[in-house]
Amino acid sequence: MDDLQKTKEELLAEVLVLRKALEKSHADLDQFVYVASHDLKAPLRGISNLSQWLEEDLGPQLGAEPRRQLELLRGRVQRMESMIDGLLDYSRAGRVRHKPERVEVSRLVHEVMEQLPAWASARLELGPGMPALTTERMALQQVFRNLLSNALRHARREELVVRVEAGDAQDFHHFRVADNGPGIAPQYHEKIWGLFQTLVARDKVEGSGMGLCVVKRLVESRGGRVWVESAEGAGATFHFTWPKPQERLT
Ligand SMILES: Nc1ncnc2c1ncn2[C@@H]1O[C@H](COP(=O)(O)OP(=O)(O)OP(=O)(O)O)[C@@H](O)[C@H]1O
Ligand SMILES: [Mg+2]
Repeated sequence: MDDLQKTKEELLAEVLVLRKALEKSHADLDQFVYVASHDLKAPLRGISNLSQWLEEDLGPQLGAEPRRQLELLRGRVQRMESMIDGLLDYSRAGRVRHKPERVEVSRLVHEVMEQLPAWASARLELGPGMPALTTERMALQQVFRNLLSNALRHARREELVVRVEAGDAQDFHHFRVADNGPGIAPQYHEKIWGLFQTLVARDKVEGSGMGLCVVKRLVESRGGRVWVESAEGAGATFHFTWPKPQERLT
């Protein structure tokens, strides 16, 4: 009943206080991830070095199987390092802002693609009307990098075609990154955006499971939306919207 008697101004003031508290708690959490990630990396490097020294000291005394196990151990250390890097990217994605600059999207997409391993194994197609816009280049670049690298890494097929298209959605550009890979079954369409989520065992396809989670945060913290359209066996199309003007819309 009390709430019903509150004036519009009182309610608005409450919303503002809550919003400030929420922003502060997000910022604290980001800071925590940032600090914890840095601190976790030092002992990991220690483990990796120690295993290397052990291998060197034992030399020929070390049998084939223990040698393989030490290699596995270093592989796991590397995996954990890339998971920590993923957490750092995630914490940066919502926290760090860059100065807007002029970006020609078709050029950006080509540049990103050419920096990815195995890019030459795929055919890149760009739809018509790719825009030029003034925006945070690094953020948009990372969104495309994560989506294109997924298309290359998870498509696992010959004659891979990756198609990037742009459209209009009022105050936003609407981008699509589509591949003709194995696609993603609908029951996993939510799961893939979560922290450390991968659909194939990491021993088969190495990945930290943070790429899409970072994409989601980059896009949503700029007011846009991300979603996937895919049926198993029929390729995957990732959609995202990106604001036209530079001001934050959220
Ligand atoms: N284009 C795609 N085709 C098929 N499966 C995909 C595609 N993109 C993502 N996936 C699935 O979604 C999962 C999550 O993707 P995400 O980018 O978050 O992690 P990742 O690629 O495994 O690791 P990384 O952190 O290195 O990006 C992948 O492990 C993969 O199983
Ligand atoms: Mg990925």
